[in-house]
Parts: sequence; C-alpha cells; structure tokens
Amino acid sequence: IRVALLFGGRSSEHGISCATAAGVLSAIDRSRFEVVPIGITRDGAWTLQPDDPELFALRAELPEVADNGTRVRLPEVASSRALTLVSADGAESSLGDVDVFFPILHGRFGEDGTVQGQFELLELPYVGNGLLASALAMDKHMTKTVLEGAGIDVAPWVLLTSGRWEAQRELFERRIRALSLPVFVKPSRAGSSVGVTKVSDWVDLDAAVELAFAEDRTVLVEAAIVGREVECAVLEGRDGGATRVSVAGEIVVTGREFYDFEAKYLDPDAAQLICPAALQEGELHEMQRIAAQAFEAIGGAGLARVDFFFDGARFVVNEINTMPGFTPISMFPSCWQASGMSYPELITELIELGLA
Ligand code: DAL
Ligand code: MG
Repeated sequence: IRVALLFGGRSSEHGISCATAAGVLSAIDRSRFEVVPIGITRDGAWTLQPDDPELFALRAELPEVADNGTRVRLPEVASSRALTLVSADGAESSLGDVDVFFPILHGRFGEDGTVQGQFELLELPYVGNGLLASALAMDKHMTKTVLEGAGIDVAPWVLLTSGRWEAQRELFERRIRALSLPVFVKPSRAGSSVGVTKVSDWVDLDAAVELAFAEDRTVLVEAAIVGREVECAVLEGRDGGATRVSVAGEIVVTGREFYDFEAKYLDPDAAQLICPAALQEGELHEMQRIAAQAFEAIGGAGLARVDFFFDGARFVVNEINTMPGFTPISMFPSCWQASGMSYPELITELIELGLA
C-alpha cells in the first residue's frame, strides 16, 4: 500500500507537523506500507523529501521542511491516483499511483478542511477527518457553539471580531468583565496555544487581544475553568461500529502559567504527561462518553483528541483536535498505548480507516 505522507505546511504549527512526520516515518510498518514523504514548505510548496526521520526529529529547535526545488503535483483528473514529480530543473517524471493520503498537518491550511476539500474534489482517499469536521474543529467559536447545541459543557466565552472590537469596545468590555478573572484570550483558529494569553489582570487584556488578532480575525475571551487538564483519544469505529475512546491522560503544568507553546514543545521540564490519569472508574466512563459524543457532534471521522477541564464534578470540553500531535511521546498515541494499542499499530489502524 502506497501512502503519501503530507507534513509541514503553512501554519504556525509547521514544525510540530514535521516532528509528527518523524515519528510516523520511523514507526510505520514497512512490510505493509511504502511511504512517499511530501513536505509542504511554509510558503505552500509541495516538495518530495527524503524518507529519513532524522531530518525531521524534534530537537532544541523545531524542524522545518527545506525547499529543495522539487514539486509534487496532484492528479489532474478526479479518480486518478497518479502523482507527478517536477524536479528542480523542470523535468517531469511519474511518482506512480498512491493508495491513500495521510495529512499529518496541524493548524490552518491542513487541519482545517482545506486540504481535505482538495482530496474530495479529486476523489482521493485520505486519513482522518473530513472537510466539515476539520473546518469546524479548527474554529474554537464554531466548535463551542456546536458542542453547546449538543448539550456538552463548554467554558463561557465572548466572541470578538476585529472591526466590532474597535467600534464597540465598551460593550465588549462589559461582557468580558462579566466572565471574571482569570480569562484566556485565544485566536479562534490556531493550535498549540499560539497567540493564547492567560489574563489575570484586566490591564493586560488589550495586549492579549492584540496578540490573538495577529493570528486570526476572530478572537475568543474565555472564562478559565479551575481544574485538572485531562484529554482522551478517539478513533472512529470499525465497520460502522461504535466510536472508540482511550483511557484518559493528564497534563500537569509546573513552573509556567499554563500549557503554552513552550511547555508543549520546548521546555521539557514545564509539563508532565501522565497516562493513564488517576480518575475513578465512573469519572473515566463519563469522560469517555462525552468524548465520543463530542466527536460525533462534529461529524468526526478517523481520529481526534478531545481536551477537557475537570473541576472535580464536571467535565468541560476545551476543544477537539482533528489531527492531534502524533510523535511517539505525544498524548494521542500515549493514550492508545495505555489502552493496549502500540504506536505502529495505531498508524496501521488510521491508514486502514482512511482506506475503508
Ligand atoms: N495542535 C497540536 C498539534 C495538538 O493538538 O496536539
Ligand atoms: Mg489543543
């Protein structure tokens, strides 16, 4: 089975996606799968990359897709599976047919339905969530609106759009202050906490909003839920069966304000991932039930990681990630490992779901 692995991309999570690719390249079952590694540069060029996990491993600095001048072209006709390679000197050659695309892209232009739409147009099989679920889950305001409609608890929030924030500042400030401190200010569409600030004093609100608007034209101000940060991993059911949910993992942040970009990827001492999390059986069941419900509420397919805050009584959904970080030490595979599925088995499972 030939798998086109798509990684990198135009979003602020480019480097995380490369690290995810390194994990998949080193663990994918080579007896069953042949990989065509396609790195998307920050400028959006699709390039053929060496099949070498070392090039993309997460180190002190985040990895990058280098533009080597090659270009990979998708089929020009729907239902063809043939890829074309254009080398740096302009010569064209066939890369052969691929059976399935595996877009391990995080953030905008990859996890947000855009690439999924391109696959749909060309009738190309792909791993993971479809266009709508991807687009929905990328947008925190839309996700919360849909989840709330499905009866799932979410943290109260105020939506800001850039034009109206400027024009109706007083009205928004009144609504925001009703949330009470601390609050989180987030771009509506971003990942890995890029552009997110925890505001504990109203004097810091303006700067936080400005930072978030640098990432997106809509911004959320959200009430902080005091509680534990717990997550679980979801897989689509096999052959129309029930949605599968892993055991819970927990993030314990030490020495930083919250689980921000530094704590996630750059400071190994800032956060601990504990899996399985210490929860009572009834609590775990409740969390798993809500995770499956949330996945189904957005029309999920393939996989997702559902992130919660647990205040000891209620599980509040923070967000749904339709292509969660996927290095061997990331939460998504760790949760499955603790549930009895190894990292290579998980990769196989995802590809098979994409082909089904
Ligand atoms: N957005 C990052 C990759 C995650 O959710 O794991
Ligand atoms: Mg997240």
